[in-house]
Amino acid sequence: MVDKVFTDTRLAALYDSFSPEGARDDFRFYLPLVMAAPSVLDLGCGTGALLRRARADGHGGRLCGVDPAPGMLEVARAQEDIEWVLGDASSLCSRGDRFDLVVMTGHAFQVLLGDDELRSTLAVIAATLTDTGRFVFETRNPLVREWETWHQRYSGEVLDETGAVVRCVCHVTGPVDGDLVSFTHTFTSDQWTEPEISYSKLRFLDAPTLAAFLSTAGLVVAEQFGDWDRSPLTATSPEIITVACRA
Ligand SMILES: C[S@@+](CC[C@H](N)C(=O)[O-])C[C@H]1O[C@@H](n2cnc3c(N)ncnc32)[C@H](O)[C@@H]1O
Repeated sequence: MVDKVFTDTRLAALYDSFSPEGARDDFRFYLPLVMAAPSVLDLGCGTGALLRRARADGHGGRLCGVDPAPGMLEVARAQEDIEWVLGDASSLCSRGDRFDLVVMTGHAFQVLLGDDELRSTLAVIAATLTDTGRFVFETRNPLVREWETWHQRYSGEVLDETGAVVRCVCHVTGPVDGDLVSFTHTFTSDQWTEPEISYSKLRFLDAPTLAAFLSTAGLVVAEQFGDWDRSPLTATSPEIITVACRA
């Protein structure tokens, strides 16, 4: 089963319409961090909207976006003055690059499902940070069980580039399996011959488990917030927003 939202060029092109910049509270949190950092790596950059915004706002340093989905990166590559790398963290191993800031936004961290994948990705991130570098990312707070509202939250409709209406319905497909939640996005349009169905799975780590994984990579939590307004993390916070650095 493939997460077609990211790999399919037609669906990837709709990603920014379903998640427009103006509706993204996370950008108001991340953008000042990006603008203040001389070099930035956006891992799981998707369509690259954050880095494209930073460049448009005058970031003059190094901006690098990495994503394994060709469809998403095709959208990103429209902006040519940013480095775009097709791949995942393992693509960075041989490059020996260092960044002042590494971010994983849009809950991209939650696509790391297995313990081994989490550990190896965090190890690469730790090795990629400069001595004073920061790794900043968010994961949804499992205690809030946000997936129970995803049908409303992530269903909707947009216009594609031809002006055709494309509808999306999000459906959580099964019981929560440990800390894994599976769901589908079904996209339909009167202009299409058949629906496109994307199958996804995300991992929901709690804060102590997250800290333990960071620790195995030699990273520690420097700051943690429960929402984009930088409010403290509590049991009812929607997000676990983490600023990590080398131990
Ligand atoms: C929900 S999107 C977020 C995109 C972007 N960061 C944003 O804020 O809009 C998750 C992204 O993670 C990417 N992804 C999937 N597996 C990945 C991996 N192993 N490492 C890094 N990114 C991955 C997907 O291709 C997708 O573009």
